[in-house]
Amino acid sequence: MKRTFKLPAHIRELHRQWKTGRHFVKGQPFHTFALVHRNRQFINAEMRKLVPKPENTTALEIGPGISPVIQGLPFKEYFLLEQSPGLAKELQRTVEGETTHSRVFFPQSLPSDYAKKWHIMDGRIEKLNFGQNERFGLVVANEVFTHVLEKDRMSAFRGISEKADALLVIDRPVVRLEDVKQNVIAQARQMLEKVAESRPLAKLVGTVKIEGISLEEQERAANAMLKHPLSFAKMSRQQMVDFGPMADYLDRNGWAGQLLIVEDMVVLKARRKSL
Ligand SMILES: C[S@@+](CC[C@H](N)C(=O)[O-])C[C@H]1O[C@@H](n2cnc3c(N)ncnc32)[C@H](O)[C@@H]1O
Repeated sequence: MKRTFKLPAHIRELHRQWKTGRHFVKGQPFHTFALVHRNRQFINAEMRKLVPKPENTTALEIGPGISPVIQGLPFKEYFLLEQSPGLAKELQRTVEGETTHSRVFFPQSLPSDYAKKWHIMDGRIEKLNFGQNERFGLVVANEVFTHVLEKDRMSAFRGISEKADALLVIDRPVVRLEDVKQNVIAQARQMLEKVAESRPLAKLVGTVKIEGISLEEQERAANAMLKHPLSFAKMSRQQMVDFGPMADYLDRNGWAGQLLIVEDMVVLKARRKSL
């Protein structure tokens, strides 16, 4: 009888949280492309090319996490749509000057009308709730589509493009399954090395965890990854975004766009031709 392999429970749970957005209940647990200073400068320059006169228009950023990139240009008004109520609250407190959370890059001393220009909303990219004729000069979604189920990605993309004059989308692109598999194997080997390095410390102090996971669990997961790399690769590939259908959709619908590769990310930037 053919036995089907089941991924370890904590890996399945991480994947579930990734897809449902629960990953971000307590904040933003990891670093992103947009949080690197050099990349932020690149994003600012690209936004400026897309929207040469930001002061005349509005911007919407979806899933800004702890640091909206649209703050890089002087827009007339700023809209943030964040599915994590915790993050939305943190952003709200920041624009109101109540907190100077070091990870949120808003200016430390805020002009008195600052809060009035910012509108922070709870919500998901799959369910935009704007008026039929409402459009933004720029809509941004950085590392958000990775968290949207594959089956819902294109309708969410169409949804944001209908609300935008210009678009900026950044995400991890989909690559060949075989390449993901090789990456899983390399990652598993690295995990086993880390576990081996941590063993002497564990002997001294008792319990040692790597990224909150015990050495035993790490070892079990790494061994499972080496034994069933394809199962892990298939799961991991669901988190990568296929930009092909997005670019085709824009081509067919009156947009001029470009796909850029920056580090290991894809940057989609586009503007309506009619503008
Ligand atoms: C990886 S973080 C990226 C944060 C930020 N854009 C950046 O690049 O640093 C993903 C963000 O998207 C939000 N998010 C996840 N799923 C979402 C969805 N379906 N709709 C809207 N936001 C979502 C998360 O709460 C989080 O703020």
